[in-house]
Amino acid sequence: MSTHESVAPATGTERIQQHRRYLMCRPEHFTVSYSINPWMEPSRPTDTARALQQWQTLYDTYLALGHDVDLIDPIDGLPDMVYTANGGFLIDGVAYGAKFRFAERVPEGPAFMEWFAANGFDVVEPAEVNEGEGDFLLVGQTILAGTGFRSTGDSHREVGEVFGREVVSLTLTDPRFYHLDTAIAVLDPVEGPGGAERANIAYLPNAFDERSQAILRERYPDAIQVSDADGAVFGLNSASDGRNAIISPRATGFEAQLRERGYTPIMLDLSELLLGGGGIKCCTLELRGAVR
Ligand code: ARG
Repeated sequence: MSTHESVAPATGTERIQQHRRYLMCRPEHFTVSYSINPWMEPSRPTDTARALQQWQTLYDTYLALGHDVDLIDPIDGLPDMVYTANGGFLIDGVAYGAKFRFAERVPEGPAFMEWFAANGFDVVEPAEVNEGEGDFLLVGQTILAGTGFRSTGDSHREVGEVFGREVVSLTLTDPRFYHLDTAIAVLDPVEGPGGAERANIAYLPNAFDERSQAILRERYPDAIQVSDADGAVFGLNSASDGRNAIISPRATGFEAQLRERGYTPIMLDLSELLLGGGGIKCCTLELRGAVR
C-alpha cells in the first residue's frame, strides 16, 4: 500500500473483530469525595444509581458483542475502583501491578494484585509508580507508555523489563488528559504478517509535547487525529475490538472518522463516571491471558 492510498478514506474496509477478556468493577461505592484530576469536583453531587445504570450498559454491550467480562468486588471507601484500567497491565498471563500516585487510590494496587493472583495470573509487584493500562497501551509488540501526570518514566523502564518489549515513552502536557488512555485509543492492536496495515490508533495531538507528537506522526501515519472538541469530551477514552469501537456519543467528529475507516462506532454515555474523570476505557481492563 503506498502512503498516498493509505490515507484515502477506507470506506468498506473489512475490519476484523478480536475476542477480548475484560475486568470491570461495579461502581457500587462510586462518588467524588476528593479531587486528583481537573474533572473531579467534590462539591458537585454524584448519582451512584445512575453510575450503576450507565456502567451496566457498558457491561451488557461487551457481552452482547461476545466478549468475556470478569468482575472484581468493589471495596467500600475506594470510589475510584470502578476505573479498573488503572489496576494493572497484563500481557500473556503476566500481571504487572499498579502503584498509584495518590494516597486515595494506593490501596487499590494490592486489591487488584490479589485478584490477578487468585485468577491464575503471574503477578509482578511494581517498584515504580504506575497506573496500569491507564498509561500503558499495547500496539502490536510495542508498549506505548504515558508520563507527565501519573506513571513515572522509571515505570516505563520497569514495564519494558517485565515484558521484554519495546517501550515508547510519550509525555502528556494537558492536565485534563492525565492518563494515556484519555489521549490515545488503540483501534486495532494487531500487526505482523497479514496485519501490518491494520494496527492503528487514534490520538489527540494537542495532549502531547512536541517530541511525542513527532513520534506518533512517524510511527502511525494512518492514525486518526481527533479534534480538540472530541478529545475534550473524552472521545478517545473508548474500547475497540478491532471492528466495534465503543465511544462517547458526544464525540461526533470521531464517530464520523471511525465510520470512514470501516469501524463500527457504538455510542454509549458514561456521563456520571465522567464526574470522576473517567470514561469507557477507564472502566475496562484487558486481561491478556497466557499464550497456549
Ligand atoms: N478518578 C480517577 C483518577 O483520577 C479516574 C481514573 C481514570 N482512569 C483512566 N484509565 N484514565 O485516578
